[in-house]
Amino acid sequence: MGSVDIPRESWATRAGFILAAVGSAVGLGNIWRFPFQVGQEGGAAFLAMYLLFIVAVGFPAMLVEFVVGRYTNRNPVGALKQLGSGVWQYVGWIFIATGFIILSYYSVVAGWTIRYFILGLQNEYLADPEASGGQFLELASGLDAIFFHALFMAIVVAVVAAGIKRGIELAVKVMVPAIIVITVGMAIYAFTLPGAGEAYSYYLSPDFGVIAENWTSILPAAAGQAFFTLSLGMGAMITYASYLDEDRNLAEDGAIIVGFDTSIAFIVGLVVFPILFTAGVDPGDPGAGAIFISLAAAFGDIQFGWLIGAIFFGTVAIAALSSAISLLEVVVSYLIDEKGIDRKVAAVGIGGGLFLLGIPSAWDLVLLDLFDLFADQILLVFGGLMLAILVGWVVSEIALEELSKGIGPLGSYGTVWIWLIRIPVIVVLVVALALGVVEYVDFLTGTEEGQFGWWLEENL
Ligand code: PFF
Repeated sequence: MGSVDIPRESWATRAGFILAAVGSAVGLGNIWRFPFQVGQEGGAAFLAMYLLFIVAVGFPAMLVEFVVGRYTNRNPVGALKQLGSGVWQYVGWIFIATGFIILSYYSVVAGWTIRYFILGLQNEYLADPEASGGQFLELASGLDAIFFHALFMAIVVAVVAAGIKRGIELAVKVMVPAIIVITVGMAIYAFTLPGAGEAYSYYLSPDFGVIAENWTSILPAAAGQAFFTLSLGMGAMITYASYLDEDRNLAEDGAIIVGFDTSIAFIVGLVVFPILFTAGVDPGDPGAGAIFISLAAAFGDIQFGWLIGAIFFGTVAIAALSSAISLLEVVVSYLIDEKGIDRKVAAVGIGGGLFLLGIPSAWDLVLLDLFDLFADQILLVFGGLMLAILVGWVVSEIALEELSKGIGPLGSYGTVWIWLIRIPVIVVLVVALALGVVEYVDFLTGTEEGQFGWWLEENL
């Protein structure tokens, strides 16, 4: 059982590792998922809880994955086998399954971004939000969606099969600055819209009464979103940190990665909500279509909107690619290490399977929701919880020693980190997981529009 089939020098430079990790973190989670989660969970109340989660749970949990990866130099399954015996071996399997499920629908959404890139080039964004909504529904499911899902998957497979080093570094170097420049520019445009004031108070001034009233749904949603956006809970950061040599300051790197990721999500909110409010669309309504409907309508409205839109959706597609690569890499690195399968064969085989598994999501939005909720609110949170238990309680000495490499004596910071993981992080994740399961059961059995039970009633 060796380490992953990529020369470890890949991330031997500090910038290489940070760029790759930022590439994994920054993706559809920030630009597509974040705004519609805010919309569905009540605006600023969700934002407040989400930010709290990022700092108090996400950041310590990222360090957990980093130390596990760098210490073991293994893929996630191998890493857990090395650190814990018995039941821990199966946890690695859950990571693999989670990666598989997420990538199946992630690729469908990424396919939409390619479609919307082309829509820009065709100058076909519709300024009227209602018409733009209709256009989204038409493009988001059915044969069109399946085709672009296949195209995106094929690109991901090609990059991973070829080895990921240059692809990711290049993509990230172009992509992160591009996303920041474009979204900041759009946030300035959004600031000038008549709905901006109302949108800011919706997005930025939390009503703690809303949190108190809806915490059972906000908490699991914020936990799921924090793990999703930081690429935690399924071993992606273990895999990337396994390519590191010893002397990086992981806390500093982690802070940079978390900082970039959170800033991008936050700015996207400053773009999307003013547009939705100006158009008179309730931010909770458009669900998975939020950015496609609102942004496309804005692009349809402004001068050279087709070009800005094409650049925007093109950049998002690249951001999705660098995240999807890390998702596929987790599964492929497992097959290479533990099963001795050739990289190309593994990438093509898994890619084919992912294409098939994504077809239901490309066929109907409710099925995409079904996969997405399950992966975020249950699987990722469960994965994060298991790692917290392992590192906090089983191998904490090793973890502290590993974290101190490149930093020096941790002193009380180390104690704070370990105790944060041992009790508050674990308790919060247990609660979030329990609530997430309840929500999911509701979703499966519920008969409100947008829920799976409703879908079954309508379709069967
Ligand atoms: N962090 C990615 C995003 O925000 O789009 C999604 C993701 C990538 C989740 C890798 C999990 C993962 F392992």
